[in-house]
Amino acid sequence: MDKKIGVGLAGFGTVGAGVYRHLLSARDVLRRRIGVEFEVRRVAVRDVSKPREVSGDLLTGRASDLIEDPEIGVVVELIGGMTTARELIEGALRAGKIVVTGNKALLAEHGEALFGLAEECGVPIFYEAAVAGGIPIIKSVREAFVANRFESMHGILNGTSNYILSRMAEAGIGYQEALDEASALGYAEADPTLDVNGWDAAHKAIILAALAYGFWIPPSDVLVRGIDTVTREDVCFAAELGYCIKLLATIKAGADGIEVRVCPTLIPSRHVLASVGGVFNAIAVHGDIVGETLFYGRGAGQDPTSSSVLGDLAEAAAALQGAPRNCGFIRHELYGKALPVGAAISKFYLRLAVEDRPGVLAQVAGIFGEAGIGISSVIQPETTAEGPVPLILMIHDAVTHVFEAACGRVAALEAVKDAPVALHVEAFAP
Ligand code: HSE
Repeated sequence: MDKKIGVGLAGFGTVGAGVYRHLLSARDVLRRRIGVEFEVRRVAVRDVSKPREVSGDLLTGRASDLIEDPEIGVVVELIGGMTTARELIEGALRAGKIVVTGNKALLAEHGEALFGLAEECGVPIFYEAAVAGGIPIIKSVREAFVANRFESMHGILNGTSNYILSRMAEAGIGYQEALDEASALGYAEADPTLDVNGWDAAHKAIILAALAYGFWIPPSDVLVRGIDTVTREDVCFAAELGYCIKLLATIKAGADGIEVRVCPTLIPSRHVLASVGGVFNAIAVHGDIVGETLFYGRGAGQDPTSSSVLGDLAEAAAALQGAPRNCGFIRHELYGKALPVGAAISKFYLRLAVEDRPGVLAQVAGIFGEAGIGISSVIQPETTAEGPVPLILMIHDAVTHVFEAACGRVAALEAVKDAPVALHVEAFAP
């Protein structure tokens, strides 16, 4: 006889509805594979009067009904946001119910407290859907790579941004036009702010870093820049130099700490991540034992995200049936601390708009030279146009705050018009 597991679903938006539908369509597969039948007993929604593809008897406007039902063993939180979602998760843990969530912002901002509570209650939180939609990166890092020390992770973690940057590169269009296209095709959220300002990807990066390095990096120690300032010009110059621009999450263990940054970054066009186009996500994970690995797939959407939630439900079912439990995150002290934003070392791309007259390049080079920063290449496209001309410099490894201070001095030169545009360059380990 199959074991029945009661599920409480909070949220019936795109993902919630997908989870409900796939729990029904995958019923047989799940029964045969794990000997469990999931029964959705309650669905908590904000507006119970709205027609939905679920029996009205299941609907409730009170999220606490999920906690109070003794037959519910797993609470699936898909409402997003901070306050109500956090109350629900904490209430569920205190009631001994396993939590499955896709709430990346909540985990990134309050992971420390939530997993502390999970440990105290001896109840896990599973969150595969929080990072990279259908790609099973959480389970891979937490379980399959458990014996590895992680040297780095590089991720394209936001599909909307990746679509926009891909279109800018392949169609030669500007940022706004590409964003409008993404919205028209339904690839961008109604409010794409967190996608294009980098924070959606940063939340995912913080979760990956926590899993890899055993502690929660404070968001203030994460350098976050969005794609909204990337211009068609920069995309073209990057291509000329043999690079493409991606919103890249870089997570690295260095001698002085863990660096986490999410920003538009030049990556070599021949690198495998450069070929990840459109709305796809990818994560390259480098572990000391496994070496280089690559995960690729859809980072959003009803079906891929539901697939991750269902995987978590299967894990919850195993835990409810006595499989050894961990709370979903294991704190350890193997890697020390987070590296403050300004202390990280990187290569940079710098675009200046300068007066086209003798001595300007020498002034710029002089400032970087005095700061001990090397320039690896320079291009100044020939032009017959009047006014400032672009000057592009590729900067050798530099400490971020030293580079930024030098940029400030360059910006103050009389010959430099407009604010300099600086982008990180990731060359990857050889
Ligand atoms: N809006 C995100 C993206 C998916 O474009 O990848 C949810 O985090």
